[in-house]
Amino acid sequence: MRIFGIGRTGLAALAATALVAGAVLAQDAPFGMQIAARQGMMAYRALNIGVLAAMAKGEAPYDAAAAQKAADNLAAQDALDQSMLWPPGSDNSANPESTALAAMWAEGSGIMDKASAYADAVAAMQAAAGKDLDSLRAALGPLGGACGDCHKAFRVAQ
Ligand code: HEC
Repeated sequence: MRIFGIGRTGLAALAATALVAGAVLAQDAPFGMQIAARQGMMAYRALNIGVLAAMAKGEAPYDAAAAQKAADNLAAQDALDQSMLWPPGSDNSANPESTALAAMWAEGSGIMDKASAYADAVAAMQAAAGKDLDSLRAALGPLGGACGDCHKAFRVAQ
């Protein structure tokens, strides 16, 4: 069988090259991709909380639908499975592109408590954002606080 004139031996050689390339990727790519993905998730959080904060500060007019959408986005992001994004060894000591502190992975670090406090604050914002501006403002403090608590404990000081 010949595909694009390569022939069986050529195909086998190509497959072997792909396997080697795959092995190289398996060594080099995962931490890089995992760190980029989790930072992207964080940027998405910042983007959406930015919409809510602008309304709370009066920099943007209160818009119930837009506020609800931003809160729903935060909830949808938080509902994604993120277990692949935080493998041990992906902290900033071995990966200069990361600002995550190794303390996060330490036994008893309390990272899951911080994550669940954040989930609660997101749920409260989801219930408040589309109601009225006062409700949004009341929910923003705890939400921003939950971001900050986790960063203070587990991220290089900015
Ligand atoms: C449970 C812990 C936790 C919570 C909650 C959390 N973060 Fe983060 N965040 C981190 C860690 C850890 C990093 C560092 C990730 C890295 O560089 O590998 C980070 C990084 C970031 C970054 C920098 C991303 C980059 O490109 O380097 C931004 C922006 C950010 N977070 C925004 C937020 C916002 C906004 C919220 C709340 C709406 C939030 N985070 C909630 C732990 C958290």
